Amino acid sequence: MSSTETSLAARTVASTQSEMTEIIMPNDTNTLGNLLGGRLMHFIDLTGALAAYRHTHTNIVTASMDHIDFIQPIHVGDLLILKSSVNRAFTTSLEVGVKVWVENTQTGQSHHAASAYLVFVAIDREGRRLKVPGLLPETPDEQRRYADALLRRQHREAEAVRRRQERHAAAQ
Ligand SMILES: CC(C)(COP(=O)(O)OP(=O)(O)OC[C@H]1O[C@@H](n2cnc3c(N)ncnc32)[C@H](O)[C@@H]1OP(=O)(O)O)[C@@H](O)C(=O)NCCC(=O)NCCS
Repeated sequence: MSSTETSLAARTVASTQSEMTEIIMPNDTNTLGNLLGGRLMHFIDLTGALAAYRHTHTNIVTASMDHIDFIQPIHVGDLLILKSSVNRAFTTSLEVGVKVWVENTQTGQSHHAASAYLVFVAIDREGRRLKVPGLLPETPDEQRRYADALLRRQHREAEAVRRRQERHAAAQ
């Protein structure tokens, strides 16, 4: 890990909160006029990265995106509203939560369409990992997400070990 000139002073969750709004165009959709899953993942990745940038003030790469449920189809002409914030910062990585809403432009009604957790890793221009600032969860919701993020990290690590063991066993 290399040293960084970026301040490592802890930051608040509010300082990382980010939002992106997109109108779904025909290019974003499949033959039924519904938003492509991969395109939604792209928007989620970008919105997650906004919160990560605001936290680290460095270059970042996406290390992982957790399981996503596509709860309801999203149609051409709908508005997609994505909101993100940092849930917890670790040593060189941080977990960001992204929540997606869809708004029907004709009725004004909106509903929750998807959620995801992403892990980003801070790196310098040479690709060396950088320490990230700590996070200060202030509200009860922020403190709950902060605690849950550690459980998800432990689950990811256990899954990574399991997959490594499976690959090792398959190679025997
Ligand atoms: C992400 C990456 C930098 C991790 O490198 P690595 O050598 O495996 O790093 P380490 O094992 O030392 O882990 C570094 C940190 O990343 C975390 N990490 C690594 N792989 C991870 C994964 N798959 N999921 C979640 N976190 C992960 C580790 O927990 C560690 O966090 P910590 O420092 O906060 O404890 C590397 O795998 C990479 O460059 N991947 C490609 C990224 C990319 O191209 N993304 C898409 C375009 S942006």
